[in-house]
Amino acid sequence: MAHDHDHHDTHGPAHEQGHGRGHDHGDIDWAEMAPLLEAQAELYTPLYRQAMSWLAREVTDPGLVVDVGSGPGVVSCLFADTFPGARVVAADGAGPLLERAGARAARLGFGDRFGTLTGDLPGALAELEYPADLMWASQSLHHLGDQRAALAALGGHLAPGGTLAILEGGLPARFLPRDIGIGRPGLQARIRAVEEDMFAEMRADLPDSVAETEDWPAMLTAAGLKHTGTRSFLLDLPAPLSDAARDYVVTSLSMLRERIGESLDADDLTTLDRLLDPADEASVHRRQDVFVLVAHTVYTALRPV
Ligand SMILES: C[S@@+](CC[C@H](N)C(=O)[O-])C[C@H]1O[C@@H](n2cnc3c(N)ncnc32)[C@H](O)[C@@H]1O
Repeated sequence: MAHDHDHHDTHGPAHEQGHGRGHDHGDIDWAEMAPLLEAQAELYTPLYRQAMSWLAREVTDPGLVVDVGSGPGVVSCLFADTFPGARVVAADGAGPLLERAGARAARLGFGDRFGTLTGDLPGALAELEYPADLMWASQSLHHLGDQRAALAALGGHLAPGGTLAILEGGLPARFLPRDIGIGRPGLQARIRAVEEDMFAEMRADLPDSVAETEDWPAMLTAAGLKHTGTRSFLLDLPAPLSDAARDYVVTSLSMLRERIGESLDADDLTTLDRLLDPADEASVHRRQDVFVLVAHTVYTALRPV
């Protein structure tokens, strides 16, 4: 079975799609993102729960569930809760995130059937001692240079009849109405356009990057799997937000400011700075119209028996 305490470090400042240096898997310091990844996954728990009830129709009583690119393990622990008979392995390149995953599993009482596997994906999966009945890869495949090869490798670690579930794409998170009464309407759409360009750059800069049409059912089929379903799940937290949801919006926009601020025009940057200034009544700290609305798409595929 996977190692429980094996880990390595990542160093340096960077964020998702950011520009840190010297990391083991790409350019991003995932360990530094732990608080955001954790807060985000906790907030998105209702969405993951819906996705898991949908998965549980196809996957019954799995022996081994592997969360590929698990990050801090919030979702891995939801799998442990959903499938009480399963052993769950959280696999990721960032040791500090897996330490958090292990601590969370222990805290929630899943420690005896929870393991972590540290290393570069998908190669690290070779350390699994037996094939998985369910593999989940949420927003991790797009960080691997050759996604098609990665899918084939993941499929190779599935038991015959086992399911691979990929969470990729959907609709980007919206936090604000189109017109927020300050600046030019449509700020979030323009921010999104910059993020799309940075995403493309991030992918192009990955080791062994291969350009790929993002047709996930076709890619799953090309990997020798049988595509069985596609479904999108909504997280709909209307205004007024809870403190935790508002904190998440503040953190997300602050990280965006850091990452893409320089690519916005002067007016939009001023608006973003006002949104982030706690002393400003129009800021996301204080305004009443902030919400969280996002959709994530899950694709499932079976390894033929
Ligand atoms: C966007 S996070 C997703 C975390 C979690 N699955 C979720 O949905 O919240 C991507 C994760 O993939 C991991 N990752 C990215 N590239 C990797 C690689 N080449 N090898 C191992 N892990 C990698 C990162 O460390 C990070 O935890």
